[in-house]
Amino acid sequence: MSAPRRNVELKATDPDPARSLVVCLELGAADEGTLFQRDTYFRVPEGRLKLREQEPGGAVLIQYRRADHPEARESRYRLIEVEDAGATRSALDEALGTLAIVEKERRLLLWEGVRIHLDKVEGLGSFVELEGVAPERSDLSGEHDRVARLTEALGIEDSTILSDSYSDLVLAAAEGGREQLIAAARGALERAYAPYSRYRVGVALRAPDGSVHVGANVENAAYPLGNCAEASAIGAMVAAGRTKIVEAAVIGDGEEPCVPCGGCRQRLREFMPLDATVHLIAEKGARASMTLEELLPRSFGPEYLP
Ligand code: THU
Repeated sequence: MSAPRRNVELKATDPDPARSLVVCLELGAADEGTLFQRDTYFRVPEGRLKLREQEPGGAVLIQYRRADHPEARESRYRLIEVEDAGATRSALDEALGTLAIVEKERRLLLWEGVRIHLDKVEGLGSFVELEGVAPERSDLSGEHDRVARLTEALGIEDSTILSDSYSDLVLAAAEGGREQLIAAARGALERAYAPYSRYRVGVALRAPDGSVHVGANVENAAYPLGNCAEASAIGAMVAAGRTKIVEAAVIGDGEEPCVPCGGCRQRLREFMPLDATVHLIAEKGARASMTLEELLPRSFGPEYLP
């Protein structure tokens, strides 16, 4: 049960779950019924680790990693059956800390080796997930093909496809999480070194494990040598061993919400999915939030390179 497995995954918001169910049944998918799942995500430096407690069914520890882009992507995972869920949860919570708890009702359907999840997630809404489970020696092309056919049959539009895990979405949706991120950015702004422009900037970046990394702008008497706050925060994050951003806050002096400069939009693009949120804040209080794609449409990124 614990050897790494692979699948091809896609997740999207589902504006009409009742219709999705009808489409699946019309395609001849087998209806496996409704499961109630409670996932506890632990703080880990790489990938994800969650304990799934399921009714009906038992508990499994799930460890997985996947690429950070929204299109259907490969995920490698292990499932380890757990006998004593309560003791395992307490032990991992004490050792690593709990990142997020996600509760959902899942209608499970199976179609040609693809698991279809129609999920109602507490506090987040309805989603559809497709998981093309790969046999050991598969080159994944068949799984990609079947996931693409289902994507079309279900009418899943590109704009609804998500790259984040439910734990990222729960953290981003939590009022407290966002305010904590903005407070961290504000703290960095107060420590900025900007004697020449007198425009202080602070940035806070949240990584998938919940850790927050901050940076401030650092100017120099030789003006072109100044660093933007985004560059400082990214440097701190990478030095702390994290290379993914799930949410960012940028705060600058003045009345207008601070917007990252063009170069810093590209810097964020290296580490942040296009559908993740950037909060733009003015020190005096004005706010705006948008996705990285809105800040940097039609952008170039690592996936263009061979
Ligand atoms: N600045 C940033 O730190 N980030 C941005 O994205 C916009 C500009 C800083 C650089 C410089 O120290 C000051 O703001 C004025 O340009």
